[in-house]
Amino acid sequence: MKVLKNYKELSSTVADIVEYQIQDEPLSRLVLPTGSTPIGLYQELVNRELDWSHVITFNLDVYIMNPNHPQSYQTFMKKNLFNRINIYPSNCNFPDRNVEVYEQKLKGTPIDLCILGIGSNGHIAFNEPGSKFDSRTRVVDLSEQTIEDNSRFFDSVDDVPKQAITMGLGTIMESKKIVLMANGKHKLNILNIAINGEQTESVPASILQSHKNVEIYYCD
Ligand code: PGA
Repeated sequence: MKVLKNYKELSSTVADIVEYQIQDEPLSRLVLPTGSTPIGLYQELVNRELDWSHVITFNLDVYIMNPNHPQSYQTFMKKNLFNRINIYPSNCNFPDRNVEVYEQKLKGTPIDLCILGIGSNGHIAFNEPGSKFDSRTRVVDLSEQTIEDNSRFFDSVDDVPKQAITMGLGTIMESKKIVLMANGKHKLNILNIAINGEQTESVPASILQSHKNVEIYYCD
């Protein structure tokens, strides 16, 4: 794990990795996260004015809710990134209930770079504790912890969707390179458990110990 000075450095370090990837391979296939952590990364990428015209993106997960809702992950991605770069909307993929189709699209050509956050309970994407290490894209129930954590984005905890569609842990692990970003002291304990603890389905992020090309960046 690399510890960075502050959130600005976390965002620019991961933006460097994305920039290098897109310049090296204009037809890159990226997996992208939502949440509060990547907002600075997306701002950095917008500022860099890269050529996204051949890039294909896949989002890690979506809530099951109206995609036009202000708190949907589709809206989040448009607002923070897609509407501000020269990517083709048809190249921006989100999971939907047709999970087999999403899996087929992902399998077509391997993902070059997958950017992840981590939940306070060790989830990656919406693979909550107990998710199978070989899980694929599917509909999931959100844990009480995740609903509570994400209630800050909604008027009340009752408004947080209870279900989501997420790429599976097995799906994520097929990416050629994985970068996990974590921001804040409240993530340090779970990061240490995920990196140094036993590999267990109770800590979904611990699966990353088996990936050959993973980088973890943290700032407090
Ligand atoms: P956060 O969420 O970036 O809002 O902390 C991360 C996650 O739950 O994966």
